[in-house]
Amino acid sequence: MSDRKVEFRYCGDAPAPKLKLWPAVVIAKRDIETEIERLAQLPPPANGRRSSMIVHPNAIEPGLGLAPGIRVTLNILKPGERTRPIRHNSTQIDFCIRGGGTAMVRGQKIDFEQYDVWNTTSMAPYWYLNEGRELQVRLTYSNAALLEKMNVHVVEDDPPSVDAEETSPTVREQEPVGRVSRFDTFQFTNDGAFLMPYERYINPPTVEPKVLHWPWKRVKEELDKLARLGKDYVGRRVYVLYNPATGRTNGTTPNLSAAMTIRPPRIVDRPHRHTSAAINYYFAGSGRSTVEGKVYEWQAGDLMFSAPGWGVHNHASHDEPVYEMNVQDQPLNIAMESLLWQEQLKLPVTVLGAQAGFETNRAQLKI
Ligand SMILES: [Fe+2]
Repeated sequence: MSDRKVEFRYCGDAPAPKLKLWPAVVIAKRDIETEIERLAQLPPPANGRRSSMIVHPNAIEPGLGLAPGIRVTLNILKPGERTRPIRHNSTQIDFCIRGGGTAMVRGQKIDFEQYDVWNTTSMAPYWYLNEGRELQVRLTYSNAALLEKMNVHVVEDDPPSVDAEETSPTVREQEPVGRVSRFDTFQFTNDGAFLMPYERYINPPTVEPKVLHWPWKRVKEELDKLARLGKDYVGRRVYVLYNPATGRTNGTTPNLSAAMTIRPPRIVDRPHRHTSAAINYYFAGSGRSTVEGKVYEWQAGDLMFSAPGWGVHNHASHDEPVYEMNVQDQPLNIAMESLLWQEQLKLPVTVLGAQAGFETNRAQLKI
């Protein structure tokens, strides 16, 4: 048994610790391809999962990730292979970067192609199939890194079937919307403090989790229209792949947002910063990013830890249009009231989701 004791550590006069930002890093296409090749040559794993975590050099266990709170996993499936079912309380965004295939998530079938995105909800049993002729390659982004840091990442291999789950008491009928429970919260002080009984504490209102699929071909049609906004547009040409179950936190999962961006040639962003960490995968064009004063070149097929939370950065496209998939832990930060954002460095810091945000000049462009 450990004889280590709790200590009182005086912090009254101690200055707040300085942020130690993880440096940006580019994982080159050739390195990703070498790892894909290596995974393909392994003997088939018992659980069917040919997977590698992509780990930032500053990451420490528990909770390895490419960003402090975001795990990125490279997964491949050879033709004819399938994975064994699994479920966990981390939530995922999946992004197919080569080939295609089928995801079965909580009994829902998703047939996906290259650059499609879909999500996996908490404790949803899921598995993957590759019935095609090409290698299937996916990047999975999840909050497993964060949950492992919190010591609460619960993972079950070969979970009970969806049918068994449907009859569990956790999915019983909820109170109809608008009906006040006999044991509901009530206002306690005139300035708005409430009291909540235990019966509500252990039975909060539920939001139906949704497994959603964003086929790239259709997203691209919408994204290409944003190219028409022209050189004078000061915003970014982005569509968040929004899951309405995440409400006001603008997420694809409750923790992460995925967004598809087009950068027309020779567009240079203004330097800005936000406390959400950002990971980009570039799948057309090339460009450069300046992050905390250091310049990084990238091109199609590269994955990049493109901005540590609160690091000043901007991105620029070279001579061709750039398509990129961006993942940030923005919903988590909105929920925590910690999403500080500075759209331009001369503007004040704003707590997005709690204070007024920023505007673009789109209304004036009349496009
Ligand atoms: Fe950014």
